[in-house]
Amino acid sequence: MVRFYKYIVLISIPIATLFSCSQAEKTDFSQRKTDFDANWQFHLNDSLKDQDTISRNTDWESLNLPHDWSVALPFDENSPATVGGGALSGGLGWYKKTFKVAEKDSLKITSIVFDGVYHNSEVWINGNYLGKRPNGYVGFQYDLTPFLKFGEAENEILVKVDNAQQPNSRWYSGSGIYRNVWLTTTDKLHIRQWGTFVTTPSVSHDSATISVNIKLKNGYKVPKNGKISTKILLDEKEISSFSSEEITVAANKIDSLNQSITISDPELWSVENPTMYTAVTEIEVDGKVVDQYETPFGIRSFKFDLDKGFILNGKQVKIKGVCMHHDLGPLGAAINTRAIERQLEILKEMGVNGIRTSHNPPAPELLELCDTMGFIVMDEAFDMWEKSKTEFDYANNWEKWHKNDLKDQIFRDRNHPSIFMWSIGNEIPEQWSERGAEIGRELSAIVKSLDTTRLVSAGMNPPIHITDEDVTVQFEETAAQPNALAGSGALDLIGYNYAHQTYAQHQKNFPNTPFIATETTSALQTRGYYEFPSDTTKIWPVRWDIPFTGGSPDQKISAFDQVRAPWGSLHETTWKIIKKHDFLSGFFIWTGFDYLGEPTPYGWPSRSSYFGIVDLAGFPKDVYYMYKSEWTDEDVLHILPHWNWEKGQEVDVWAYYNHAEEVELFLNGKSMGVQKKEGDDLHVMWRFPFEAGTLKAVSRKDGKTVKETEVKTAGNPAQLTLSADRETIKADGKDLSFITVTITDENGVLAPKADNNIQFSLEGNGEIVGVASGDPTNHQSFKGKEHQALSGKCLVIVQTIQEAGTLVLTASSSGLKEASITIISE
Ligand code: GAL
Repeated sequence: MVRFYKYIVLISIPIATLFSCSQAEKTDFSQRKTDFDANWQFHLNDSLKDQDTISRNTDWESLNLPHDWSVALPFDENSPATVGGGALSGGLGWYKKTFKVAEKDSLKITSIVFDGVYHNSEVWINGNYLGKRPNGYVGFQYDLTPFLKFGEAENEILVKVDNAQQPNSRWYSGSGIYRNVWLTTTDKLHIRQWGTFVTTPSVSHDSATISVNIKLKNGYKVPKNGKISTKILLDEKEISSFSSEEITVAANKIDSLNQSITISDPELWSVENPTMYTAVTEIEVDGKVVDQYETPFGIRSFKFDLDKGFILNGKQVKIKGVCMHHDLGPLGAAINTRAIERQLEILKEMGVNGIRTSHNPPAPELLELCDTMGFIVMDEAFDMWEKSKTEFDYANNWEKWHKNDLKDQIFRDRNHPSIFMWSIGNEIPEQWSERGAEIGRELSAIVKSLDTTRLVSAGMNPPIHITDEDVTVQFEETAAQPNALAGSGALDLIGYNYAHQTYAQHQKNFPNTPFIATETTSALQTRGYYEFPSDTTKIWPVRWDIPFTGGSPDQKISAFDQVRAPWGSLHETTWKIIKKHDFLSGFFIWTGFDYLGEPTPYGWPSRSSYFGIVDLAGFPKDVYYMYKSEWTDEDVLHILPHWNWEKGQEVDVWAYYNHAEEVELFLNGKSMGVQKKEGDDLHVMWRFPFEAGTLKAVSRKDGKTVKETEVKTAGNPAQLTLSADRETIKADGKDLSFITVTITDENGVLAPKADNNIQFSLEGNGEIVGVASGDPTNHQSFKGKEHQALSGKCLVIVQTIQEAGTLVLTASSSGLKEASITIISE
């Protein structure tokens, strides 16, 4: 009989008493989870699809993971992935790695953990088949122990990644082992992978109850006794701890226990102060700690209120979120923590406080960063259920895999304080039918069997039943009918994709279920390109199913907020509505950054999106400053467009500003008038004939200047300048410096129309790993050493090697003065 204490509740035991008395031997657990990314070999597109023959193939390329092979392929109009998938093909790839395992680990459990492989991966160890995982976004692991050789003998791990059948995604998926891989080594009595669940059932400013559910596995052939303790750490200092009596886990069994403790004066996790605690759980056997498992977590209370929207720690917080796909622009899908961090920094700087991981479980590093940087995350599971959106997509694996995949997502992610909502699907075709209600209830029940602390939602388009195609129908008189999924009872939060015209009616249509706009806007822009007049709205394409034929000859889109997809809105339109009503808890704009694929409204030669508030290279488009003026405390005054037009041409000038009553514009010292925002205006505008020179804007409050900004007419492109986001980076072979290349005239004024082709060379301890400009039509390789600028700018990403030193990047281009920058790697 297993003797197990299912609940152990302690109230604030001074740590000193518990841990200082512990006689437990100190063990080093730094090797419990090790980075397994280095020294893999890769082979693409082998016709021999058999693992025995592939191992003998000699044509292998050495590389380190994470790796996305598709991003290095040429853009191809005829790629089976289509432009929707970024015009970059998939294929069949093989990875192998040989490694040794120390003799001393022969008594342990060794597992390999994949954070995500796109897709249909199959894994062998020393010729033994471990399994297949079709889903390209979930994390999974295999126990290698029974098949390992120890000591000097080599082990070989072989991974087949089959992304050959295309299309299988509506956006760029990437191909390969594109997320991190880890090796875990534990005692046979250990805490399972994703084996803790930390919740905070009661939270106030004075105290918080912390509850930890711990799943243990005894891999020994005999029952094992152990004592389970959990320390709570804040800033690496123990603040509390709790421990169990001696417990027994039967041979080859998994069991679980709960521990709970109340602490006083918790530091609450919030968007502004995202305080993270760590729970360190240990198993002690005969005075020796045999396993240690760390769970970072946060303490916060929240609810979605029917009238007041999202309430975090008792305070109303409007969710100002963006949807993000997983690619990192020129780096493709291969994850890099610094690249994700940079994206989040740029978004945070604009005032964004929410991320929707459209439309799949993200890299764990994204969630870790959202925890520590303070973002409100909607973690999404699926873009389709049983019905496909593209021919070879996950719907083909739905029946067999959806339960496991969803469970694994929740197990992996449920300790992240940044996650407040689970989305069980995006624009699922079944949402209109009874089958959609059935599946919705099934998925919601799965989520709730593992986590009742968060709300379940789904992005529906729209959640109300519309009898014609016109979502502009207002439902002022009577309540609208929910669609099958929205009316199924499966959802705690009604998720709207678009249909902003119906938001004001939400409380009438769904009196008992709170609101979130899971996806909005879909406005379109090319950075640095402008069309006049700026105040006419263009709907491109006119209807979703009517092919687009207009646009500019070089497939650009005006960066005035004046162009949108027919299902969406201009940026200002949706924000004005969300801002107005407290019960609208917030929204996730489509999208924060441009992403590879889905170049709506254009087709080839475009290969990446126009939806981003920030372009593919990470350069903000103008509307970034509209949001910044609304969402941050910083003084903002931003004017657009650039100042290089034809003499006498009628031009519009917009200003986004805050903290001021008015803006006065001066052209070459002459006032062009004072403008003020009226009502719910979000920008002001002037219209007059162009004259070259200096355009200066001054914002004022109570007669005092708040901010000044100016834009000048540039002369001919004459020189290059380089500036790095960080000039000192880590010599760890992973860290990146993002270097902005600017083309200016001889006086240093940005040449706003310059599209020169620029060559790059790098000397020293690093390499160029990506180049981009944000131009959706550019077909130069992101992995090349040259790139054509867009509107006077482009980006080079350099990466360190594991040897400290300097990296000297030089940029040159015919007719322009070259420039160099030195990055220190230490
Ligand atoms: C939505 C969809 C997104 C993206 C977007 C483009 O309907 O959920 O994945 O396709 O449209 O506007």
